[in-house]
Amino acid sequence: MARLLYSATMSLDGFIAGPGGDMSWLSPHVGGPNPTADRLLAQVGAILAGNRTFGGDDPNAGTDAEGAFGGQYSGPAVVLTHRPPEQPVKGVEFTDDLRTAIALSREAAGERYVNVLGADVARQCQEIGELDEILVFVAPVLLGDGTRLFAVPGGRQVDLTPLPGESALWFRIT
Ligand SMILES: NC(=O)c1ccc[n+]([C@@H]2O[C@H](COP(=O)([O-])OP(=O)(O)OC[C@H]3O[C@@H](n4cnc5c(N)ncnc54)[C@H](OP(=O)(O)O)[C@@H]3O)[C@@H](O)[C@H]2O)c1
Repeated sequence: MARLLYSATMSLDGFIAGPGGDMSWLSPHVGGPNPTADRLLAQVGAILAGNRTFGGDDPNAGTDAEGAFGGQYSGPAVVLTHRPPEQPVKGVEFTDDLRTAIALSREAAGERYVNVLGADVARQCQEIGELDEILVFVAPVLLGDGTRLFAVPGGRQVDLTPLPGESALWFRIT
């Protein structure tokens, strides 16, 4: 069964988006060689994203690099939202139910990863025990405010175990 892996590029102070969903800070830090991202991309069978990720700021909008993985991902996606678009979007299924979204994306991913995108959705997957792994790329920038990699009011400890032999920040959720 497909495992759920939350991945994100994070500022050194722990944010995956700046204030108001600003993603312009990311541009100088993507595009170069990234063997870990290449390894991940080769193992992703489906994306499970929240609607703020799906409809969010893309510094590559309007270019060939628009979309997930700098435009290199072209597989299926499932988007969680209470406000699905009126017109269908090719390759994207919309649902307002988390467990349905997980089932649909697992089915689409086959034996590969479901790549979870968006902190809110990742937190909910972890909350119900469905998040298996987390992979973080750290960008050398401080943002001061924005969307945290993982945010739970009042806090919640989640223990992580590095994947064996892995040098990237790639962990199994214990
Ligand atoms: N740095 C990175 O690598 C990276 C990667 C991905 C995303 N991002 C950024 O991170 C931000 C998005 O993360 P986020 O945590 O703010 O939001 P998110 O998880 O992407 O999306 C949250 C939205 O998804 C919908 N949703 C979530 N749970 C739902 C449920 N159980 N049922 C129905 N709908 C549900 C709701 O949208 P509706 O209001 O439509 O119902 C909610 O507002 C964006 O700014 C994005 O650009 C950064």
